[in-house]
Amino acid sequence: MSLTILAIESSCDDTGVAIVRDGKDLLANVVSSQIQIHQKFGGVVPEVASREHLTYINRLIDKALEEAALSYQDIDLVAVTYGPGLVGALLVGVSTAKALAYAIKKPLLGIHHIEGHIYANFLAHPDIRLPALCLVVSGGHTNIIKINRHGEYLSLGQTRDDAAGEAFDKVARALGLPYPGGPEIDRLFKVGNPEAITFPIAKLDNPYDFSFSGLKSAVLNYLNQEKMKNRPIEVPDVAASFQMAVVKALCEKTFLALENEQMSTLLLAGGVAANSQLRESLAKGCAERGIQFYCPPMAYCTDNAAMIGAAAYYKAQAGQVSDLTLNAHAQLPF
Ligand code: KG4
Repeated sequence: MSLTILAIESSCDDTGVAIVRDGKDLLANVVSSQIQIHQKFGGVVPEVASREHLTYINRLIDKALEEAALSYQDIDLVAVTYGPGLVGALLVGVSTAKALAYAIKKPLLGIHHIEGHIYANFLAHPDIRLPALCLVVSGGHTNIIKINRHGEYLSLGQTRDDAAGEAFDKVARALGLPYPGGPEIDRLFKVGNPEAITFPIAKLDNPYDFSFSGLKSAVLNYLNQEKMKNRPIEVPDVAASFQMAVVKALCEKTFLALENEQMSTLLLAGGVAANSQLRESLAKGCAERGIQFYCPPMAYCTDNAAMIGAAAYYKAQAGQVSDLTLNAHAQLPF
C-alpha cells in the first residue's frame, strides 16, 4: 500500500518540510535556511535558531502541501527528527509534528538525524543493495556505519571530539572566512597548494575513529607562529593543506573499513559530502577497488526533511511508530 509521509527537520539551522511517497517520490521539499542570520555571529546561535524555526515551520507545512497539491487528509504519517541536535530547535519540530499527527489523527514517527542523512542516498537510489558501509560527515557528526539491513546498523567508528564539518567551520573562522566555512575552504582548495603545510592526522586505538580537534589546534598554532614571526599568511595554502588532511583521514579510514568488513557498497552522507575533493577521492578509490559508490545530490546532503521522509518510510514498513510522548533528545545516541 502506498504511504505518503509529511516529514519535518529542525535539528539545527535549517527548517525543512517535505512530502515523500513510498520513500522515493518527492512530492514537495521546502527548506528555509538561517545561514544569513547566523553568519554575523560566526556560527549558529541556538536561541535564535529556535525562534526562526517557530516563525517558519507552519508556513513551510502549508507551502509543502500546496507544492504537492495535497491536503492534510492525504497524509498517512507524520515523521520528525527528534535528535540529536539543538534541543530548542528540535523541540519546535517535535511539538509541531505531535500537534499535527494528533489533529489529523495519523501516526507519528520520530527519526534519528543520522538515519535521515543515510537515507538521503535511498531517495535518489532506491535500488541500493544492502549490506553497505556509510560515511556520515556533517557539521555535528562523523561516523562510519555498517548497514546490515534496513534499520539494522553497527557504528564502526566516530569522532572523539569535533565533527569534520565543525572543524571546517572553526578553521575557516580562524582564517577570517565566513560561516559556514566548509564551502569556503573547498573553494580555496582549488587555488591553494595542498602540500604547502603538512598537518597531522590523529592515530587512535580504534582505527575507524576520528579526531579533528588536534588538527584544528595544529592550524591555529601554525597561524600564531607565522604571526609572531611577522610572516604573511597564505590563506589558500593553509585552507588547502587543512582540507587535504581532513579528506585523507576520512578516505583512509573508510577504505580500511570497507576492506576489513569486505563491503562492496559505499554510501556518503551529510553536509561535508558536498566537498568536491572528498567526493572525487572516494569515487576514484571505489572505482579502483570495484566498489559501488553512491552519494546523494547536493540538495539532500545538507539538512533537509526529504531524507527524514525517506528514512521514515523504511521504518514504517517495519511496523515502527512513535507515540505522543515522543520528546526531543539533544544527545540521542546512534
Ligand atoms: O548536514 P549539515 O547541513 O548539518 C549538520 O547536520 O550538521 O552540514 C553542514 C556542514 C557545515 O559544517 C559545513 O561547513 C559543511 O557541512 N559543508 C562543507 C561543504 N559544504 C558544506 N564542508 C566541506 N566542504 C564543503 N563543500
